[in-house]
Amino acid sequence: MAMSSLLRTSAARRAMTSVRSSPAVFARGKATLPDLDYDFGALEPYISGEIMELHYTKHHQTYVNSYNVAVEKFESTSDVKAKVELQSLINFHGGGHLNHSLFWKNLAPRSSGGGELLESKSPLTKAIQGKYGSYDQLISAINTQVRAFTFQRVMTFC
Ligand SMILES: [Fe+2]
Repeated sequence: MAMSSLLRTSAARRAMTSVRSSPAVFARGKATLPDLDYDFGALEPYISGEIMELHYTKHHQTYVNSYNVAVEKFESTSDVKAKVELQSLINFHGGGHLNHSLFWKNLAPRSSGGGELLESKSPLTKAIQGKYGSYDQLISAINTQVRAFTFQRVMTFC
């Protein structure tokens, strides 16, 4: 187990949570990675711990770092043209940071209810049943679309 995985144990998380009472995504003017509610390996075998760690520590961290750099540059210049150009970087990297922060919250290990289909009276389940008939038919439709998309991408590169 990687060191960063060890640091993300429940005890460490509880200690960090007591210091930071909310999932502070933007603290003291600097964006930071949010704490995860689970260990990197908690979603296995569906998502590997290695992929989760890489996604969190490299991909998401890059959005956070790039956002902070763009904001620092924005704040340190009085050049209007430079400020306008930096706004697109702030939007891109800030958006990536926010999207990933939402993504982590949408995942949960089985022990915390992850992987469970919503009960039949939920609005989402009703909408899925109305459009596709069932969760199984939705999964089948998605798999068909993914296969078609993958086939098209392969044919494009051949
Ligand atoms: Fe990502």
